[in-house]
Amino acid sequence: MNRIRYSIKELEDLLEHHKAIASAKEKVLLSYISEMEELYKELHKKIQTIKEKEETINQTKKILAQNDRVFTLGIMAASLAHEVKNPLIVIAGMLDRLEKHLDPSQKELLNIIKKEVERIQGIMNRLTEFYKPQPIKKEKKNINQLILETVKLTKHYLERFRNVNIITNLSDNIPDISYDKGQIQQVLVNLIINAAQSMPKGGSITISTSITTSENGKKSVIIEVEDTGIGIPEENMDKIFQPFFSTKPPEEGTGLGLSISKDIIEKHSGKITVRSQVAKGTCFTIYLPYDE
Ligand SMILES: Nc1ncnc2c1ncn2[C@@H]1O[C@H](COP(=O)(O)OP(=O)(O)OP(=O)(O)O)[C@@H](O)[C@H]1O
Ligand SMILES: [Mg+2]
Repeated sequence: MNRIRYSIKELEDLLEHHKAIASAKEKVLLSYISEMEELYKELHKKIQTIKEKEETINQTKKILAQNDRVFTLGIMAASLAHEVKNPLIVIAGMLDRLEKHLDPSQKELLNIIKKEVERIQGIMNRLTEFYKPQPIKKEKKNINQLILETVKLTKHYLERFRNVNIITNLSDNIPDISYDKGQIQQVLVNLIINAAQSMPKGGSITISTSITTSENGKKSVIIEVEDTGIGIPEENMDKIFQPFFSTKPPEEGTGLGLSISKDIIEKHSGKITVRSQVAKGTCFTIYLPYDE
């Protein structure tokens, strides 16, 4: 009898022992499961990041392919322009010689031809200049000063637009930054002319400066050129920076102003953005990064 009682005790002990082992194993198993869950979550996140990166790579590839095509087209146009320039010089020279042999009424016709030849020469020059790599010659200067000089320079040109006035709103705490004066001035002139051309019934162009710090701590000078003109329709917003895109009659635009400007700003490691509302106006924003 005694033996059986012991044996039951032994069995109870054994059971307790096994229960303790089972509970310990359960705990280990549960911790494995929660660890697996954590790992699964991390894996899921990593897959998500890889998918996003893949998407960015695909988009970049598309942009690169497009840029490549635009660039090849541009090079072709520039070499064509180069070929056309020489015969044009000969034509212009011949027209000058011809002028001496004509009577006044014929000279009037000749002047029209001469003007058109000059216009073609102007377009060809801009084309060849655009695709010729222009080194940037940076100098540390104040951008407000350049804006004031450029406004003065364009005042005479703007007189041909009725009721177009130009206002400057320049911040006092703009540091001197390194930039190519001639090239940034070219950008400003392009933007001012575009703004004036967008206001056939008159309006105002406001040029402002300020500074900003991006999320990664990089500082930039901001130049905004804002007009109260016709605005840009949504469907044209991603075309305006492409070479040769123009909505203007041929005598007013070749569609190179903004693509040249974008190129210049990017050579300064900056960027140019645009926001616009049809019938309200357009604002171009230039960011020029600088080190302190
Ligand atoms: N301020 C603006 N307001 C409205 N539309 C604009 C403005 N600036 C540019 N655009 C649009 O963007 C197009 C491209 O401008 P871009 O300066 O490159 O060429 P363009 O002015 O047509 O010719 P170019 O500058 O070579 O004489 C313009 O034809 C016009 O449709
Ligand atoms: Mg233009």
